[in-house]
Amino acid sequence: MSTYTENNRKVTVSTILSMKQQGEKIAMLTAYDYTMATLLDQGGVDIILVGDSAANVMAGYTTTLPITIDEMIYHARSVRNGAQRALIAVDMPFGSCSGNPMQSLANAVRMMKESGADALKIEGGVEVADDIKKIIDAGIPVIGHLGLMPQSINKYGSYGVRAKGDEEAEKLINDTLLLEKIGCFAIVLEKIPATLAQKIAQSVKIPIIGIGAGAGVDGQVLVVQDMLGMNKAFAPKFLRRYADLHTVIMDAVGNYISDVKSSDFPNEKESY
Ligand code: KIV
Repeated sequence: MSTYTENNRKVTVSTILSMKQQGEKIAMLTAYDYTMATLLDQGGVDIILVGDSAANVMAGYTTTLPITIDEMIYHARSVRNGAQRALIAVDMPFGSCSGNPMQSLANAVRMMKESGADALKIEGGVEVADDIKKIIDAGIPVIGHLGLMPQSINKYGSYGVRAKGDEEAEKLINDTLLLEKIGCFAIVLEKIPATLAQKIAQSVKIPIIGIGAGAGVDGQVLVVQDMLGMNKAFAPKFLRRYADLHTVIMDAVGNYISDVKSSDFPNEKESY
């Protein structure tokens, strides 16, 4: 199958919008460092997300709340250095974009200038719409993020499926329409019923990218360490593992240790 993004041209916001029009699904993965970004870019992903999930998978925090703007800039800069083709979107971390549009704009401008991002991703609907609009009006492309919003974990109390009831589903639909109206060029929907996600994707012109939102949306995103099978303990229903790097790495580390202990490594060829 020939695809819209098969050529080596840089993926832009208009590429992503065209993909929805042409019915080509969008493949998005997270990365937080240069080496992984290089691999994902060479592999051909459309969007690399420098997610605030870096707080979990890179720093070992139990929530995404502690990560700072400075830390996100460091991760994003590293990804920028490794990726030429993919569109790079960076998460605005908890508290950096909530209820004070001028301050949110200043944070967003700083993120764009210092990280080299192509776009930002911001969690929230009507509550942060003025902040998001101010940022978009300044010429910064924004991906919205609705459904399960990990930055609101202390409000929810769990990482369970969102919008199962009518009231929350209606708010989600209204928030999606609002984010489209104020100019978001895509929206991530996390962990919501597949039928609702499909209905939403069919009712907006911008791409809906799902994580735990079923197949009826315009693209998918996963955390790269999860889809590579690096963490055996994290096994939500929506996760498909494409590799078992946990086993590969454990075997390699075990072999290295035994070679060192037995003086098998380094050998003559590996010495100067
Ligand atoms: O931070 C992140 O990695 C995300 C994705 C899971 C969508 O927001």
